[in-house]
Amino acid sequence: MPHKERGKFITFEGLDGVGKSTQLEKLAVHLRKQGLKVIKTREPGGTLLGEQLRTVLLSSRTSGLSPLAELALMFADRAQDIDEKILPALARGQWVLCDRFTDSSEAYQGGGRGLGSDLVLQLHGTLCRNLQPDLTILMVSDLGANLARARRRNIEQAKGADNDENRFERENHAFYKRVLDAYLSIAEREPQRVVQIDAREPAGKVHKKIVETVEERLVRGSN
Ligand code: TYD
Repeated sequence: MPHKERGKFITFEGLDGVGKSTQLEKLAVHLRKQGLKVIKTREPGGTLLGEQLRTVLLSSRTSGLSPLAELALMFADRAQDIDEKILPALARGQWVLCDRFTDSSEAYQGGGRGLGSDLVLQLHGTLCRNLQPDLTILMVSDLGANLARARRRNIEQAKGADNDENRFERENHAFYKRVLDAYLSIAEREPQRVVQIDAREPAGKVHKKIVETVEERLVRGSN
């Protein structure tokens, strides 16, 4: 049997409400039009187990979760996503687009909750066998605008539902400033993997930049 070329693994990162999910969807449509096989996943939540963990992690009904327990649950979700979805898809030659990955843990739990990067990277080494994305799109915008958008959206979604996804959005400005700073440090540390995209532009323009980045880094790079 001919050896199948491994697919590419692209992650999307950024603060809540920055427009990641919209851009991930647009990129998936674009890549499929190019004839590529693409699967999407998200963390927390890409698998059946992950959806249950997501409810626990994001619901504002979950109170008193310790930062370490929160980190452990994020990694439980990720370990499952990697084994169940990401690695099998890559091995089949599919491209995997993932809404958040370990950079989120480094930014939110490492930076936001103050657990530090070392612990997160150690866990990534053990529990994720250090799987690295081929490319990470880090979407950056104004702190205030992001949070206002994320809060509005989650309040809307929670109306009439018996659960919500507001636990993180309740954090204050200082928390999100630490998250953003941690993201920017990761981008500085790993410029070969992480590309910052200005998310303040209209969605169409942002999409164009993301497509250019993917072509530059992954399509031309692999020829
Ligand atoms: P998500 O739906 O991705 O957020 P949004 O669409 O608002 O950007 O929600 C995931 C939330 O979980 C988000 O607030 C970030 C947080 N999170 C962590 O704190 N650590 C992690 O490792 C991951 C994957 C997410």
